[in-house]
Amino acid sequence: MKRFLTVGATTLMLAGTLNAVPVLAEERRPTVAEQSLRALAARHGLTIGTAIDMDVLRDTADPQYRALAASQFSSVTAENAMKWESLEPTRGTYNWAPADQLIDFARKNKQQVRGHVLVWQNQLPAWLTQGVEDGTIGKAQLRDILRDHITTVVKHFKGKISQWDVVNEAASDPWDTPSSIHLKGFWAQHLGPGYIADAFRWARAADPNALLFYNDYNIEAFGDRGPSDKTWYVYDMVRKLRSSGVPIDGVGSQGHLGTQYGNFDAFQALEVLDAFSDLGLATAFTEVDVRSQMTEGVRAGDSNEINPRLQASASNYSVLLQACLANRHCLSYTVWGFTDRHSWVPGWFSDPPEGLATLYDESYRPKRAYNVVKADLAFSGPPYVLPRIPQKPRR
Ligand code: XIL
Repeated sequence: MKRFLTVGATTLMLAGTLNAVPVLAEERRPTVAEQSLRALAARHGLTIGTAIDMDVLRDTADPQYRALAASQFSSVTAENAMKWESLEPTRGTYNWAPADQLIDFARKNKQQVRGHVLVWQNQLPAWLTQGVEDGTIGKAQLRDILRDHITTVVKHFKGKISQWDVVNEAASDPWDTPSSIHLKGFWAQHLGPGYIADAFRWARAADPNALLFYNDYNIEAFGDRGPSDKTWYVYDMVRKLRSSGVPIDGVGSQGHLGTQYGNFDAFQALEVLDAFSDLGLATAFTEVDVRSQMTEGVRAGDSNEINPRLQASASNYSVLLQACLANRHCLSYTVWGFTDRHSWVPGWFSDPPEGLATLYDESYRPKRAYNVVKADLAFSGPPYVLPRIPQKPRR
């Protein structure tokens, strides 16, 4: 860390005559521009994180990725390295190395680690999904396999993970059939709804101190609170889990937004965080990025099309961050990659093509979104933004 010293002429003269007295140099406060996101977030006790692509982190030809990941963020999440298909590609053979490298990187840089993810219907190893499909893995055995997986993984990282995404994306979307929100995917289909409570209990048994989160997307604001309101559904689900004593400690709102949608303001986002924390839960934004459609004009560099997108993206980053700052139980704000050079968006949203979703452009230049996040962290404080309230893991 650089220190900013200005030594006035008087101080020097005094020091010359009374040379036993140490020079009391006046320390110049770094400007906001000179501060990192993590330093500014720390003023609120807030953790600011990013997802990390391990292949890029290792790439010596791309040193800026590593440098910014270390200097700007106080938490890291494995973008893929802790998913089931990455950890146990072959049944019974765990590949810990990439995830352990991330843990090591975090330790060196005094960063927390968000564990992502224990139970999810995506990125499961083929041996598991095929085994269930062809009947060689039966229902009772599947439940044992899930319990073993959670126990093995959580124990392996015990003491090194601040927050675990225990269950990810269990709720359906209003565009699914039926449109009323329900539990979707592999685990609900094969084990029934009880797998969620089981997963939290198994995770708690394996690590008494990590905070255990339910994590999902499109839960940033309440809708009409009817059967197709996903946020309302998730709220009701975690309320029931909490009231039946399940060891769930928090709700992660992913925060994958697009500038082409209506979206919402900071008060709407805050209403949801407050609703969750009123249940006794911590909150977090866990995968924030704000993408835009890459029209022909955008791709050709037309500023008439690019400018409104960059501004809208920045504004949505700010909405989520302001809501988080205003809710004292919102412990972390994590972006899903920090540079357009390495973002999952172009690879995932290709019809129509989307991009421009992160804080830095493809050449690691900070974008408007970066500066808005920085300004929100710097220019906020009492009475409406107060230090975080730590969450006690529920046992
Ligand atoms: C994404 C990764 O960013 C991609 O690299 C991968 O190919 C697919 O998964 N919600 C989640 C994350 O919980 O795990 C997803 O990550 C993005 C959506």
